[in-house]
Amino acid sequence: MILSPSLLSADFSCLAEELAALEAAGVTWLHLDVMDGAFVPNITFGPPLIKALRPHSGLFFDVHLMVEEPARYLRDFKEAGADLLVIHAEADRHAQRTLTEIRKLGLKAGLALNPGTDLSAARWLAPDLDLLLLMSVNPGFSGQAFIPQTYEKIRAARALLAEAGAAGALVQVDGGACPENAAALLDAGADVLVSGSAFFGHKPYDARLAAFMKAAEGRAVRPGLRAARAWRHAASNANP
Ligand code: DX5
Ligand code: ZN
Repeated sequence: MILSPSLLSADFSCLAEELAALEAAGVTWLHLDVMDGAFVPNITFGPPLIKALRPHSGLFFDVHLMVEEPARYLRDFKEAGADLLVIHAEADRHAQRTLTEIRKLGLKAGLALNPGTDLSAARWLAPDLDLLLLMSVNPGFSGQAFIPQTYEKIRAARALLAEAGAAGALVQVDGGACPENAAALLDAGADVLVSGSAFFGHKPYDARLAAFMKAAEGRAVRPGLRAARAWRHAASNANP
């Protein structure tokens, strides 16, 4: 399992310190929720903030774009220092093209599905994916309740990816994850758990990370997950 804490729940008055504390605790990924006030009913931040944080952190920047027509901004996010760009299927009529463009920029490419979006939206994009993000809350806010039918969707996603010849792609779950449901999420087939409110509200971070990682103890590591654990921030991303 990889835990990707969501910056949205961090203390915005001291983000550089927060990032340093995450790295010191052994966290490897950071989930950055970009919201445009159009695709979702909330506005957060964009490339300038990510660019400002980049020199302060070696974390792998997992950037979740809750943005209409995300293809307009791919280069901006690459230049800001993103490592993985995740677009929403519902926000892009030409997702296959956008995913291809993301990979051409040298970044990892992901597709996100809202809770109500059928997995069939990912079927013919599977070869273009490094990661499939299943929303387990309706996107827009942290601190919402986990939607339980997500467990079945995760199982179906794993089967779909295997059938499509994309078994190496990661399944990420975003929304309402916590140490209490982490084992069930991993049982269903999740590889990457995003956590906002259930992570940042609980210091020290090393103990909180351990509470999540306990769910992964004794489990076989899928080859795709093993490969992803070696993904690192490539400093060259920031200087195209
Ligand atoms: C919701 C965001 C999530 C959110 C997760 O739209 O995409 O990443 O920050 O927060 P929690 O873990 O509190 O549900
Ligand atoms: Zn997110």
